[in-house]
Amino acid sequence: METIKGKNILVAGATGGIGSHTVKLLVSGGANVFITGRNKEKLGQIGVENKIPEERMFAADLCNSTQVELLKQAYFQVFQTIDVLVNTSGIGIIKPLEQLSEPDFLQSLNTNLVASFLLVKAFLPAMKEAKTGLIINIPGVLGKVPMAGAAAYSASKYGLVGMMQSIREELKRTNIRITNLFMGGVNTPFWDVIDLRVQKDKMINTEEAAKAIWFLCQQPVSGVVSEMVLQPFNHQAI
Ligand SMILES: NC(=O)c1ccc[n+]([C@@H]2O[C@H](COP(=O)([O-])OP(=O)(O)OC[C@H]3O[C@@H](n4cnc5c(N)ncnc54)[C@H](OP(=O)(O)O)[C@@H]3O)[C@@H](O)[C@H]2O)c1
Repeated sequence: METIKGKNILVAGATGGIGSHTVKLLVSGGANVFITGRNKEKLGQIGVENKIPEERMFAADLCNSTQVELLKQAYFQVFQTIDVLVNTSGIGIIKPLEQLSEPDFLQSLNTNLVASFLLVKAFLPAMKEAKTGLIINIPGVLGKVPMAGAAAYSASKYGLVGMMQSIREELKRTNIRITNLFMGGVNTPFWDVIDLRVQKDKMINTEEAAKAIWFLCQQPVSGVVSEMVLQPFNHQAI
């Protein structure tokens, strides 16, 4: 394992269930963590809880290219390099096709796919310059195996996987690594807006989900975990 102590890490979706727990682990491991999320108040709260200085927080809507550009400027005012980009932002719109509207579909693509593209466009050049870096995305298992009602969500996550696999090919001659983390259900606020009967107590808990990311951040450069699948125990078949 490689230490994360002193590593410069950007966590997007830091205000979310998985993101906020990831921030906690990375900070406790001595990483220099910069956080972003949409909700400014929640972001400030996560920052205070983790003793992250104010200049390492920036609220942004990642679907908006101008705001991603401002995030990039804020980040590089503090750090000169980026060792790891952890993208834990995203939304889940899970509805049968008859109820799924065009705005639902576009919002899913914008948040889960276009925002990931904008983040990579903003932060990959610095990694390329340093010829090293790690990008972790969370397509979730619905980016690998679809389920009924997930047309928009799966489309966005399959798109994310395809995009990252293509970018990986462009990065062959560098030490930049890309990891797709396919997680099954995690007990976070993600499910609160989804009209589906789910057993939250049978899901992966947020600490365990965050530990998977923390583990991935510590992989030595000599190898790459190109993908990891973490499932709740009762769904381990995939
Ligand atoms: N929970 C699961 O079962 C599960 C399973 C597999 C994969 N995943 C994936 O894991 C990631 C994190 O999920 P989670 O469970 O932690 O969800 P969550 O608690 O709902 O958190 C979602 C995060 O995404 C941020 N976000 C949403 N839209 C955004 C936008 N337009 N711009 C910037 N940030 C935005 C939210 O920011 P604000 O709160 O500040 O708006 C929040 O920080 C998502 O990509 C999700 O698809 C989740």
